[in-house]
Amino acid sequence: MRLSEARKDRYRKLAKDKGYRSRAAYKLKQINESYHLFEPKSTVLDIGCAPGGWIQVVQEITNNKCLIIGVDIKNVEPIKDVVIIQGDIESEVTIKKIESIARSKISVILSDMSPNVSGLWEIDHVKQILLTEKALNICNILLRQKGNAVFKVFQGEMLKEIEGKMKQMFEKVYIAKPDASRKESSELYYICLNFRY
Ligand SMILES: C[S@@+](CC[C@H](N)C(=O)[O-])C[C@H]1O[C@@H](n2cnc3c(N)ncnc32)[C@H](O)[C@@H]1O
Repeated sequence: MRLSEARKDRYRKLAKDKGYRSRAAYKLKQINESYHLFEPKSTVLDIGCAPGGWIQVVQEITNNKCLIIGVDIKNVEPIKDVVIIQGDIESEVTIKKIESIARSKISVILSDMSPNVSGLWEIDHVKQILLTEKALNICNILLRQKGNAVFKVFQGEMLKEIEGKMKQMFEKVYIAKPDASRKESSELYYICLNFRY
């Protein structure tokens, strides 16, 4: 077994043992260890939340003291105290639903969105970056001033352009490749702190 396979397996097993719905839970845990994204009694939006591993981690970190709204095209098994919206983030209807539930501005926006991957690296990159652009637009509508965000991206030629947009929108922008993310996968995470508007 290659090292990366072993790591994938290790996190899958850990997630199963600890009752997390996905291995991805460990990526957010590891990111938060360095960046401390959340504060209690705030609102967190998790875009592309299925099956719900990141939501479980946010609940754990904030002692279940946040309003968490999860959105995904896919069905998500209900999670106690969490509002799940099944919908496409590219649709106006979904945005309106989020707005009506959040009522005031959101403190943290998370996006772990992945498109349906074709296996063709460049195409998947473009599709993923378009989703990230959508998530950035949602920050412009819903994120509070000084709020934080995390965006998964697939590396490729459009990366610098989207990074530039993040740097305009946020005071601090960091890049992370958590240990739980497979080394050979093209995914990276942008951690964006202190929304400027
Ligand atoms: C890697 S999974 C997220 C895993 C999640 N963070 C967890 O910890 O369980 C990526 C998700 O993005 C969702 N997604 C992709 N495009 C989307 C869109 N346009 N609107 C909403 N969700 C989308 C997919 O359905 C998929 O469930």
